[in-house]
Amino acid sequence: MYNNNLYNTPYHTEDLSKYKFLVTGGAGFIGSNIVEYLLRYNAGHVRVLDNLSNGYIENIQDFMALPNFEFMEGDIRNVETCKKALNGIDFVTHQAALGSVPRSISDPITSNEVNIDGFLNILNSVKESKNIKRMVYAASSSTYGDSKVLPKVEGNEGKPLSPYAVTKLVNELYADVFSQVYGTHTIGLRYFNIFGPKQNPNNPYAAVIPIFCDAFLKNQQPNINGDGETSRDFTFVENAVQANIRALFYDDLQKHEVMNVACGDQVTLNSLIKMLNVICDKNITANYLPERLGDVKHSKADITKIKSLLKYEPEFYFQRGLEEVLNWYLKENR
Ligand SMILES: NC(=O)c1ccc[n+]([C@@H]2O[C@H](COP(=O)([O-])OP(=O)(O)OC[C@H]3O[C@@H](n4cnc5c(N)ncnc54)[C@H](O)[C@@H]3O)[C@@H](O)[C@H]2O)c1
Repeated sequence: MYNNNLYNTPYHTEDLSKYKFLVTGGAGFIGSNIVEYLLRYNAGHVRVLDNLSNGYIENIQDFMALPNFEFMEGDIRNVETCKKALNGIDFVTHQAALGSVPRSISDPITSNEVNIDGFLNILNSVKESKNIKRMVYAASSSTYGDSKVLPKVEGNEGKPLSPYAVTKLVNELYADVFSQVYGTHTIGLRYFNIFGPKQNPNNPYAAVIPIFCDAFLKNQQPNINGDGETSRDFTFVENAVQANIRALFYDDLQKHEVMNVACGDQVTLNSLIKMLNVICDKNITANYLPERLGDVKHSKADITKIKSLLKYEPEFYFQRGLEEVLNWYLKENR
């Protein structure tokens, strides 16, 4: 049921059995990893709200029979569904959204409805709840937009480059205003290219690492948009789970904070291909295509803030994470 290689380090000191958690988007990649952590450490109750539009029941199938797990199929665009999902909950981690820059470029209306209206529905229901102690939500490195400054540091954002980036910026603005006007306690985690087990490669808007791993395991040439010198601060999913758990429980935080979740490294797509060749003992070359609209050329995070406020330390750096995820894809045959 649990991946023995992950979540062996507890990132909390509290007794989780005393609390009820809502994980929106909990059938998705990051959400289902948060669910795994919470259940592994004996959370009192874990409720997942997901409409399965981009998530997979396989990601949570193993947990279905547990008495402290509950799957609620529903849409965050529905106000009543959000209220029902929050009933009796102590802590919320809001992961549900439509990810992917290209998806938002081809359908900005639906990205807006899910990522902004849906976010506001959850935030407003949190505000109205008497029980809820804190909501952590998935923000994004895309909020740094066209800023050329490296590393990316909180407070030094540029202009958004895609409808997706706009939605994630608006989430932060709403959370900030709710903290000032209503005292709602929220923490936004700006994820930098998260990868790891349960991230699906077989999806038109899949991310680069699952696509490349899939190609390598099938001995196919992966496509690279641009010259391959595009760089990212690739972050293994256990680090994102750690950030969520610490952000849910850490004391002495302002009513609203945003912080980067990353490793503070910079890896180019060409060096990713090289590493995959070494790990897999293969000699596969990439197929180079034109650059994609809305993509940021370079990304690398400053993680001073999260280290200082949450005592976050990446548990898995890039190469270890890559080996781990390749083994997982091999084993799961997904
Ligand atoms: N993966 C990354 O690198 C990354 C980077 C930055 C930010 N994020 C953000 O982190 C969060 C989780 O990302 P992920 O990679 O796990 O994506 P994912 O698509 O695997 O997970 C999102 C989940 O939300 C669900 N969902 C979508 N629309 C919904 C709706 N209307 N109602 C209920 N559920 C809905 C999907 O079915 C899916 O299970 C998202 O908010 C995403 O924008 C991810």
